[in-house]
Parts: sequence; C-alpha cells; structure tokens
Amino acid sequence: MPEWDTVRLDFNDDVATLTVDRPDRLNALNVETLHVLRDAISAAESEGARALVLTGAGEKAFIAGADISHMQDLSVAEAQEYAELGHEVTDMLEQFPAPVIAAMNGYAFGGGCELSLACDFRVASENAIIGQTEIDLGIIPGWGGTQRLSRLVGDELARRLIFFGERIDAQDARAMGLVGEVVAHDQIDDHVAEMASDLAERPAFALQAAKEALNQAHEGMQSAGLRYERRLWSSLFGTHDQREGMAAFLDEREPEFN
Ligand code: COA
Repeated sequence: MPEWDTVRLDFNDDVATLTVDRPDRLNALNVETLHVLRDAISAAESEGARALVLTGAGEKAFIAGADISHMQDLSVAEAQEYAELGHEVTDMLEQFPAPVIAAMNGYAFGGGCELSLACDFRVASENAIIGQTEIDLGIIPGWGGTQRLSRLVGDELARRLIFFGERIDAQDARAMGLVGEVVAHDQIDDHVAEMASDLAERPAFALQAAKEALNQAHEGMQSAGLRYERRLWSSLFGTHDQREGMAAFLDEREPEFN
C-alpha cells in the first residue's frame, strides 16, 4: 500500500479509510494534499474497497477547507486549475464504485463541507461545526457547493448558508438534512466503521448500480452547473474582496470589503 505524508489510507477487511492528515492546519487542503487524495482514492478503488470512509486527523477538524494561504495570491488561471483539481477529487468521491461515508469529526468548512457533499452519507460528531464560509473570504464555494448543497437542504437554506456563511452545529445540520445523523464525538469512528462494514457486506454490484442510478438523477444539470461554478469561482480571484478577505483571515483581523 503506498504511503503519503498528508493522507493515510487504511484497510480493515474491505473497508478503506482515508484520513486527511494535516492536523496543524486543521486538515486544510493544499494542492499537494488534493493530489495525494486523488491518488489515495484511486488506490482504494484498485484495492477493491467495498466501502470508503473519509475523515480528518486530530481532535478538532474534519477538513477546515481549501488552503487559504495557498489561495491568497492566486491569479484567475491558477484559481481555475485549483478549482479543477478540487472538482476532480469531489467527482471521484461521488463516482466511487462503492458507498462513501464522510465521518465529520470536527470543523467542516468551505471545501471540507463540499467534499462531504460529494459523499453518499454524512455522519457528524456532536462537536462538528459545518459551513460554506467562503463569503467571508470574498469568494463563493468552488468545489461543488453551489450545486450539491441545495439538493440536501433545499434552495432557501442553501442560499442562507452560502450568502451568510453561517457556521452551524451538528444538530442544526441534522435538522436541515445537511448530515444524516449525529453521534457522540468519542463514538464516531466505531459508528462509521460499523456502518461501512455493514455496507461492505451487501451485494457490491447492486450497491454500485443503485449509486449510479441515484447519481444519474442529478447528472445532466449538475455537470453544466459545476462547470459554471468553476468559472465564476476563479473569476473572483484578484478582486479587492478576495485579496482582502483572505489577507484578513491570515492576519487574524476583520476584513474591509468594498
Ligand atoms: N487554510 C489554511 N490554513 C488554515 C485554514 C485554512 N482553511 N483553517 C485553519 N488554518 C490554520 C490557521 O491559519 C492556523 O494557523 P497558525 O497556527 O499558523 O495560526 C491553524 O490552522 C489553526 O487554526 P486556528 O484558526 O488557530 O484554530 P481555531 O481553533 O482558532 O479556529 C477555525 C478554527 C476552523 C474556526 C478557523 O481556523 C477558521 O475559520 N478557518 C477557516 C475556515 C474557512 O473559512 N474555510 C474555508 C476555506 S475555502
């Protein structure tokens, strides 16, 4: 099994677990980590995983989003490339030929929330705080959030979450349908492992077919929407609000938007 610095891939029988492992950065996804995630998802598939779990290392975060220090000075063309890479990873999760469960064991903001949206199931620990917080950085969700969120929570709530950048707790996320269930923090790993091994024992071809058919219900409109989102997202790079929003986060001060 290959080994990487920023992502761990572990197998327990037919269940593969991907752990994003940058706890000092709250598992934020820089370019290297996205490349590794891509390789690790492929490795899980070629090793025959019958269920895949995605989680974050450490006690605080699932994934605190795209890496703001990387994004701060990107040009439009570089942002487009970064968006393509994020979309590649979310597409791989969505199209993985077996069920994928996001074990949301802490902060899930921006791109972290978006990765979970591409999974089949979202299980949150009671400590999880979740949000599409990009507006505070002068940008929008760029890894599928504008397309996938409303399917779970409805259009009005998706607009609330994206326009206000609200950070909601696990129980509110459950009430909105953003996560399927909430479990005690110290039980999330066991709970998700049990769910994943239950799935892994079910008929694999039928599960794959069910997943493909359910995905197909959204496919046509979604791929056009995802392309549109990537273009709009990248076009915000270089604006005053994007540069200021990200600089303010890194300087730990309030942003002054236009
Ligand atoms: N990108 C890059 N670095 C990040 C990050 C991100 N998305 N999220 C957190 N970090 C870094 C912080 O800058 C900090 O670095 P430092 O130790 O060099 O100062 C470190 O991770 C720990 O985060 P910190 O903010 O000190 O922890 P906290 O417990 O006070 O707050 C959060 C945690 C998640 C509430 C806060 O980090 C946050 O709001 N992060 C940004 C979330 C976001 O907007 N994500 C969307 C990006 S598209």
